[in-house]
Amino acid sequence: MHSEGAFMISHVLIICSLALAQDGAVWNFEPQTIEQYNIQEAIFAEADFGYGLVCSSKTMPMTIASKESLPTKEFTVSAWVSIEEPQVWGGIIGCVQDDADVEYGWVLGYNETQFTFGLSTVGADDGDGRMTYLDSANQKYEFGTWHHVVATYDGKLLRLYVDGILSNETSEQSGNILYSDSSPFVLGAYVDGNENNPLDGRLLMVALHRKAVTQIEVARMYESRKELSALPSWTDATLDWEVEPYLNWPTINAMSVSFETTVPTTATLTTHRDDGTNTVSMHSGQKRFHQFRITHLEQNQKYFYVVSGTDSNGETITSEQLSFRTAPGENDSFTFVAIGDTQSQADVVKRVADLAYMHRPNLVVHAGDLVSTGTVKADWTGHFFPSMQPLISRVPLMPVLGNHEQDAQHYYDYMDLPQPEMYYSFEFGNAEFFMIDGNRKLHDGSDQLEWLENALKQSNATWKFAVLHQPPYTSDSDDYGDTYVTTSTQGDTNVQHIISLLEKFGVDICFSGHVHDYERTFPILKGEVTPMHEGGVMYVTTAGGGGYLEHFDPTNTWFGHKKANYHHLVYIAIHGNQLEFQAIDEHGGLFDVISIKKAQ
Ligand SMILES: [Fe+2]
Ligand SMILES: [Fe+2]
Repeated sequence: MHSEGAFMISHVLIICSLALAQDGAVWNFEPQTIEQYNIQEAIFAEADFGYGLVCSSKTMPMTIASKESLPTKEFTVSAWVSIEEPQVWGGIIGCVQDDADVEYGWVLGYNETQFTFGLSTVGADDGDGRMTYLDSANQKYEFGTWHHVVATYDGKLLRLYVDGILSNETSEQSGNILYSDSSPFVLGAYVDGNENNPLDGRLLMVALHRKAVTQIEVARMYESRKELSALPSWTDATLDWEVEPYLNWPTINAMSVSFETTVPTTATLTTHRDDGTNTVSMHSGQKRFHQFRITHLEQNQKYFYVVSGTDSNGETITSEQLSFRTAPGENDSFTFVAIGDTQSQADVVKRVADLAYMHRPNLVVHAGDLVSTGTVKADWTGHFFPSMQPLISRVPLMPVLGNHEQDAQHYYDYMDLPQPEMYYSFEFGNAEFFMIDGNRKLHDGSDQLEWLENALKQSNATWKFAVLHQPPYTSDSDDYGDTYVTTSTQGDTNVQHIISLLEKFGVDICFSGHVHDYERTFPILKGEVTPMHEGGVMYVTTAGGGGYLEHFDPTNTWFGHKKANYHHLVYIAIHGNQLEFQAIDEHGGLFDVISIKKAQ
């Protein structure tokens, strides 16, 4: 389903009254001054660490301030901040709207390594606003440590300072600031129409003034509380799994293992063959997210593995003994599960994933929409990964991008896949999978279509499977035209460009997601139903991993065969030129079975 979830402020709101200075506002988050704010259940760090209001998605809801204090042109915004959770779009304070080309307001924030400041003004307006984001260049922040961050704008020049030092500037913006009426003015989060990323860290003094202070004044502001910089780092996080170990990218001699801890750890992975031989240990430096690529493995062989992470206090977290099997060779039989659209209803996702695990497949292929909002880290760490365990700690996962991933960096960071990752192919036994990004252009001459043609041309696999999110053929009711009142394109017009290649190079089954139901078409060749042994390609929509179910055209399409509105998975077993295909609902009920035998 391609509708975007309506933006909701799901946190308990905390309304800050302003400590109004003559030319602006100051929010001083120290325990002795906090009574002036209407903050309930505020948590503070200890005095030895400089206090600070503790912010996190769990303990500290988003903080909203009055829009009356927003500057129209010149201003200075400053904050003492300590960051515990790096993120791509982090916010300290701002009133911003940045969604595709619509870019308004300003935001003092941070990315995964640096502080940032974004601003949109009339001087750079391209019709719907245009932001410039400055980053603090080589001034990077340290985990859990106080930093003083200041942005100034005098109507012509935008400057960003960290710890009293000018780190970056630009004259790309000029004149009055452009605001969007719908943007909330937020402290302790990056919030706009489609993003809500709470700050995980501490805030101490946040101030907004209606004039641009000078470099000397910034240095003076920093000097007045400079002792904060020297304090030891502080965190409210305790060592735990943020994401338990999971597997990607199986080959005949390699496997990827990734996991994430709640605080930075140094990590170790130990693996050995199930007979106890070939023990290998790998290590990685202090960080939260660890990704290991184990190589020099043997084909179609079972291995055990254990990972552990040790934090700066010497505490260690260790996984149970886990296992995987490397990819089968050309002559080995194997099984795989195809699922899609695990974006909603964690209980359903868990049921489908557990059902998949019950089959102990060699591989899980995912047709996209892993999560509801790809840019929201909590959707990955709180929804997708926990719901998919223990399946993905034992069975490697190979996904494609859905529209809900939003092409977010989280996808590329978490998934370890063959280059260039947004599309790729891989061999598994006597099959080859062609993993396509249906969100990117696929017209003639596009990079991706050229890649696909070359990859298909080079393949001599017995079984060829295409996997992409948007379906080339679907009997869905309303995604491609309202079939109750008018005609429909009966599939995604962008991805329909791959059909002639699938037919030309003998792809057997094309799996897709997006339309939250199950459908298997008659085999299709050149727009007509044609048996598979005469070159017909079968299209299977397997989008029953948890997304809310959709409906079919009230009248059957010319290609429509088996359909079902169930949450489900597809299970496939391959032995040589024989393929067994089953569709199974979330409660284990078999509702579609076929077998295909290829001529030798
Ligand atoms: Fe979906
Ligand atoms: Fe989708």
